[in-house]
Amino acid sequence: MPPTPDTPTPDANPGPSPFLSTMPPSTFTWQITLSDKVIAITGANRGIGLGIAEVCFANSAQFVYSLDRMQPGEETIALQTRFPNFRFIQTDVTSEESIEKAINQIVHETGRIDGLVANAGMTKHQPAMEFDRPELEQMFNLNVFGSYFCAQIVARKFIELGIKGSIVMTASMTSYRPNRVSRPLRPYGATKAAIRNMCHTLAMEWSKHGIRVNSISPGFVRTAMTYYVETSPDWATKMENYGGMPRLADPRELGGAYVYLLSDASSYTTGIDIPVAGVVGAW
Ligand SMILES: NC(=O)c1ccc[n+]([C@@H]2O[C@H](COP(=O)([O-])OP(=O)(O)OC[C@H]3O[C@@H](n4cnc5c(N)ncnc54)[C@H](O)[C@@H]3O)[C@@H](O)[C@H]2O)c1
Repeated sequence: MPPTPDTPTPDANPGPSPFLSTMPPSTFTWQITLSDKVIAITGANRGIGLGIAEVCFANSAQFVYSLDRMQPGEETIALQTRFPNFRFIQTDVTSEESIEKAINQIVHETGRIDGLVANAGMTKHQPAMEFDRPELEQMFNLNVFGSYFCAQIVARKFIELGIKGSIVMTASMTSYRPNRVSRPLRPYGATKAAIRNMCHTLAMEWSKHGIRVNSISPGFVRTAMTYYVETSPDWATKMENYGGMPRLADPRELGGAYVYLLSDASSYTTGIDIPVAGVVGAW
């Protein structure tokens, strides 16, 4: 019988039997594309999430959903005008109930979900001595627990639907080492290191379901989160000394890496982090 798009190519070394084959089908075109894919991105009403959404559409995504706590602003609406399949579901990723409701709505509306980008996150600029427990809990609750429960809830849905889904989390170069060029980011780096680490372990645990889990570590990206960076009086000197690309990134410059990890072209890529950082963090 000729292979259908969902018939995996026979694997010479298939591994233990409970594993779902992640071999590409023999009809795979080897193109990096999101054609026919339904992608959810948390925090995509602005900033990096919005940039990723645009690049997903540039690479043929069928639907992209922004799961965001805030109402769509001008930028969100401008992208929706260009791509009517850019949809918004008001979601608070610190609530498992809210995440579950959003994922169910996506599947109800489109019949599927193929990828989720756990991107919503926050930082707080103040000296380490001044952080109290509620401030620390707020940051870990959004950055770490929010990403974890998004991954867990969508992974359950992938398994239920028999979809070999892809999960990508937005970590940060601060997950590797403290950022010396901008203001020190104190516990923020710890939340991002947790994300990078959990992607690796989730990837190991869920590979038997054909689910891939990876992260991306951006450097400096021009968003509301980095509003202060270029206003620092010694910014130009710091950039000169730092020796990488002396500028902030356009959020869309990260998009190709997300598209790759969300696409079927990355069928053997799981448990890794891709730094997209113009050498930021390598000093
Ligand atoms: N900007 C940078 O230079 C940079 C660098 C490295 C990593 N990051 C990471 O990239 C991600 C996006 O950052 P950004 O710069 O675009 O930030 P941003 O503040 O511009 O956007 C964050 C988005 O997340 C949404 N959000 C916040 N809390 C939420 C919640 N509870 N539920 C759902 N949505 C929520 C916000 O409404 C907003 O739309 C974050 O995880 C951040 O830590 C940013």
